[in-house]
Amino acid sequence: MTAHPVPDEPRILVLDFGSQYTMLIARRIRELQVYCEIHPYNTPLADIEAFGAAGLILSGGPASCVADDAPHADPGVFDLGVPTLGICYGAQDMTRHFGGDVQASDKREYGPARIIANAFAGPLAALDDNTPEAVWMSHGDRIEAPAPGFEVIAHSEDGVVAAVADVTHHRYGVQFHPEVVHTPRGREMLSAFVIDICGCRPTWTPEHIVDVLVRQIREQVGEDGRVLCGLSGGVDSSVAAALVHRAIGDRLTCVFVDNGLLRKGEAHQVEHVLGRELGLPIVVADAKQQFLDALAGVDDPEKKRKIIGHVFIEVFEESAKNSGEQFDYLCQGTLYPDVIESVSFKGPSATIKSHHNVGGLPDWMRMELVEPLRELFKDEVRVIGRTLGLPSAVVDRQPFPGPGLAIRILSDITDERLRLVREADAVVREEFEAWPGHKALWQYFAVLLPVRSVGVMGDQRTYEATCAIRCVTSVDGMTADWPDLPRDLLARTSTRIINEVRGINRVVYDITSKPPGTIEWE
Ligand code: XMP
Repeated sequence: MTAHPVPDEPRILVLDFGSQYTMLIARRIRELQVYCEIHPYNTPLADIEAFGAAGLILSGGPASCVADDAPHADPGVFDLGVPTLGICYGAQDMTRHFGGDVQASDKREYGPARIIANAFAGPLAALDDNTPEAVWMSHGDRIEAPAPGFEVIAHSEDGVVAAVADVTHHRYGVQFHPEVVHTPRGREMLSAFVIDICGCRPTWTPEHIVDVLVRQIREQVGEDGRVLCGLSGGVDSSVAAALVHRAIGDRLTCVFVDNGLLRKGEAHQVEHVLGRELGLPIVVADAKQQFLDALAGVDDPEKKRKIIGHVFIEVFEESAKNSGEQFDYLCQGTLYPDVIESVSFKGPSATIKSHHNVGGLPDWMRMELVEPLRELFKDEVRVIGRTLGLPSAVVDRQPFPGPGLAIRILSDITDERLRLVREADAVVREEFEAWPGHKALWQYFAVLLPVRSVGVMGDQRTYEATCAIRCVTSVDGMTADWPDLPRDLLARTSTRIINEVRGINRVVYDITSKPPGTIEWE
């Protein structure tokens, strides 16, 4: 199953039937400080047994469990002797397995609903009266009659079966989704199952996670393995490097390629904060000129990206060679969502994905991967970063594209244009960060447009560059909207850019959502 299963941890296994909410189930359980993994529904029984789960959750899914080609768990999973919770499709599949009546329905029940519990068992233990409880439904099939040994413990207000239980064997099924926020008491329901019924102790705390990961790294790398890590200034690579450093000290070498395309203060942060203060062994490759030379005269966004990718690999390779070390491992900041995506039964992309970020590296660099974050979600990585003493500037950093400021200058790249966009961006960040509402924003930054316009400053006519403020709210970067920012904030930011960044005399605010726009302009 996983390459490096976490040893000795009370854990929950989620078998995935393809629900859009499966990842959320794991998130919620981790929030209860219980370790949890997601695996495809058709994972071999022997692997499931070896995983040693204290409880099993069967996720929802888009299929109809009475269809001929419906996905079914190995029947053996119901004989493992561990508490089992079926959610939506999982509940229906369990009911079908034990001989209950599940019917396909023409009508989907989707959206908010209210349920009334008649027995306060299993996940419904926290609901101690018959007051209707808000839940989120999303299912097509319905349970018409529970399986022998099961009883109905809740109905929806429309009289549809909402939850079933075989309390003797600790088998429970819910037709709704306790993992989504639209089920307000969903967290209590999952806690009742995971903590009270499965008996998992909340041990998955930040300090404990650090201990476990450090132990894993030591086991993988051994007594004298050497690890190479590329630092980008971003949170994932910084936290991964800090963990590896805690595990094996100076047998780690970090290479930081300063491409001259970072934001104000970021190169300093990597060299001084991560290097000097936290003591990470960093080789800094000052490749600013190399990148500028390669990018000279190029204004096509895709060409810029390709050039930056190639030069990065050249410099990274050269620096690793020049360090005089022989490396056995390459450290990467792969996160759990990437891992889940790659092992999902929806797509056999498993082997491509873990090499995705090193796809362009030369053969001699295809070392064994050390991926200490591969069991963590992004917000867990941030918590681990704080636990390791990384500063907020690193841990709470906004997403920043690999090609950096080069794709925020909408023309060819010059030293002067980099100065303009970097200074303007620093003002945007400073002003926005002083505004309490900024925590709800996904990104806010400056873009330098290839437009000059006439202005007047003092008694002087100006003819200078235009800068756009791009600011969006988003959940995952896939879609985004521009927020209604306070006029004062926009006014202060604009005034400061024009007063402080010589060469910019006009500031505009981008009011394009994604789609149809993208977040970055290139
Ligand atoms: P777009 O512009 O596609 O961006 O709406 C979505 C999110 O991805 C970030 N982004 C990148 N990140 N390398 C990265 O690591 C890239 O080439 C890249 N391009 C865009 C962008 O900042 C936004 O958060």
